[in-house]
Amino acid sequence: MAKKTKPSRLDEEAVVSALIQEGYPGEFSGKLAFECFRDMLDDERRSILDNSELFDDSSRLRTWYRLPRSPKEAHMLFGMDAPRVLKTFLKVLAILPSVAPFRTIVDLGAGTGSLARLISQDWPDCRIICTERERNLVDIGRAASKEFPNIEFVEADHCSLPETGVSGDVLISVIGFDLVPQTSNAASAPSQVEGIFKAWHEISEADAKLICIARIPTPDALRSFLSEANRAGWAVDLGFSDFVYADQERFPALLFTRTEADTQDVDPQEVDFFWTLFGF
Ligand SMILES: C[S@@+](CC[C@H](N)C(=O)[O-])C[C@H]1O[C@@H](n2cnc3c(N)ncnc32)[C@H](O)[C@@H]1O
Repeated sequence: MAKKTKPSRLDEEAVVSALIQEGYPGEFSGKLAFECFRDMLDDERRSILDNSELFDDSSRLRTWYRLPRSPKEAHMLFGMDAPRVLKTFLKVLAILPSVAPFRTIVDLGAGTGSLARLISQDWPDCRIICTERERNLVDIGRAASKEFPNIEFVEADHCSLPETGVSGDVLISVIGFDLVPQTSNAASAPSQVEGIFKAWHEISEADAKLICIARIPTPDALRSFLSEANRAGWAVDLGFSDFVYADQERFPALLFTRTEADTQDVDPQEVDFFWTLFGF
């Protein structure tokens, strides 16, 4: 991979138009996009949607990801909160030059690969592997990425990635409510994240970085998230980390470096300082 230090060529306007071209509801409010997505479904799938309570547990959320059967449906689903998607993708594009040079990006839980296709425009020489456990999203993503020879898809759960032979020197994880408990006592809720961080550690190359943008709602939840990462061998660099601002919401964009597991625990005061620095 050639050295690259310049900022991303894809500015907000370019990213918005690329997402709208893909089928994202750029101009819609979240609620309207959700209604459109719901309207597109046949009766059977609409009733699955109506009977699933999104935030109750991740298996119900998983049901949602199985519903879309076309790019339009998938992008409506992921574009329910289009401003968040946009700001998150822009943040990833802004961080990437600071971790260059790299050879292989793994987009973990890539959905239909929209982010990968944006990255590919900026970094055409880089190999991009999209991993995703929902087959219909993988199928839609593969079809949508036909013109992108450097993008490939692997259907796998995060925890089974070490068995797939996938590896990379930059790992990206854009996670919403899937892995981060959103309750007020999020820090004490049982978490599946440590095992996932371990799997990501196993598939990462020696000098790898992990960019993780996650809807972490409180400083307690962030401290617990960072400790789990640390135990699995991911040391956060809060000096390089940042926040995403989207609508009424703010959430961390974290940069981790691969280390040996548990080398240095996170300093809770440093985490609190990081949180307040961004206006909380
Ligand atoms: C919030 S969506 C984000 C999709 C995409 N990264 C984006 O930003 O548009 C989370 C994605 O992660 C996938 N996912 C959730 N848990 C997973 C797991 N354990 N293993 C693999 N993929 C998972 C979901 O199927 C979904 O496509």
